[in-house]
Amino acid sequence: MPTTEAPPVVERAEGCTLFFSGGREVIDAGGGAVAVNIGHGRAEVAAAVAHATQRVSYVIPPWVTEERIALVEMLRERWLPPGLDRVGLVSGGSESVDSAIRLAINHFVSKGQPERWKVIGRETSYHGVTLASLAVGGHTSRRSGFEHVLMDHPKMPVADAEGLQKVIESEDPDTIAAVIAEPVIGASAGAVLPPDDWWPDVRAICDEHGILLIADEVMTGFGRTGRKFGVDHWGVVPDILVGGKGLSGGYAPLGGVYATDEVVAPIAAVGGGMMFFTYSAHSAACAAGIAALTILEDENLVEASATKGEDFLRRLRPLEDHPHVREVRGLGLMIGIELVRDKADGEPYGPTDGMAGQVVAEALRRGVWVYPAGDGSVPDALLIGPPFTITEAEMDTVVAVLGEAISAVCGD
Ligand SMILES: Cc1ncc(COP(=O)(O)O)c(C=O)c1O
Repeated sequence: MPTTEAPPVVERAEGCTLFFSGGREVIDAGGGAVAVNIGHGRAEVAAAVAHATQRVSYVIPPWVTEERIALVEMLRERWLPPGLDRVGLVSGGSESVDSAIRLAINHFVSKGQPERWKVIGRETSYHGVTLASLAVGGHTSRRSGFEHVLMDHPKMPVADAEGLQKVIESEDPDTIAAVIAEPVIGASAGAVLPPDDWWPDVRAICDEHGILLIADEVMTGFGRTGRKFGVDHWGVVPDILVGGKGLSGGYAPLGGVYATDEVVAPIAAVGGGMMFFTYSAHSAACAAGIAALTILEDENLVEASATKGEDFLRRLRPLEDHPHVREVRGLGLMIGIELVRDKADGEPYGPTDGMAGQVVAEALRRGVWVYPAGDGSVPDALLIGPPFTITEAEMDTVVAVLGEAISAVCGD
């Protein structure tokens, strides 16, 4: 993580503003780790968490509380894509991806096909930091030091569906359990969108081979890209969808695994199940989820993410004139700025230069937080993922500060 001169002690937060000790104010244009979608300091979320905690502090996950029942109903009725009715709740993104991998493998084991265990991920991707989620991801710097113990899951090209077909054929389709992908690539590349046909083509290829499709919506889900889920932009319904971050808007550790009946049925048929985490479906976290989703609904914040995202992208676009900004891109309020050493030939900075981290630190000194992103062929990108309540004035400050920070670090 980038360092700052003052230790980052945040005393309170309100809307898009973080109040650091010593009186410094920072605009949270990264939404923390692209998680804070309803804004900070919403008293109704805190009240819901307090109420749930007072009533029932903890029950083992096979039992349920009112908050969990209500959250699952809300997700099924108003949020999840059609057919994804089987809901498992966990404590975050990595746990949700890890659970989805186990669910996919368990599905095939239960059908008597244990040889189908590989999960194809993208060459540039991030799916979390447990050993299984690291293994299906392509984030080389986060995998570094663990490569020798990671399971060997195949990787496909980022944007070429034919490349997936080739990987499946070379691996043998009967060994593949699932394909996993982020609708818009986040941490490893800085809001990279796929070509228009990519998601439908990947869906068709998975169907052709009986492979499960997992959409990792940990960053893109719950309105971040201007639709409820990223895959909604391409009209694709995966077999398994995972989420985290925006589900609770950052107010509590909460993630989810959502699957079709067809995925779960073979496991149930053999009397199998999935072991829970101690804190799976924790009642206070479920209460935060309900309150956050209610705010998203009541204040039309998913629509706001779409319209403000377009507006923010338009305001940020002039940064493309900077000699070290290769591209400003994004969908909804998930926006990336890619930095390069040489714009003429697209030459990136070196992997050890840490330019994105330096720009993030410089912007933070000047009062704006954005999230450092990038890896592999896109080593340096800034990820902008503010609360959907961001104002025009805040957007303008972010644009100005990022322009100054990029010039200060990269030169003009
Ligand atoms: C697409 C994606 N999947 C998984 C994760 C891991 O989530 P968590 O950090 O909540 O474990 C992240 C985190 O950034 C993510 O962006």
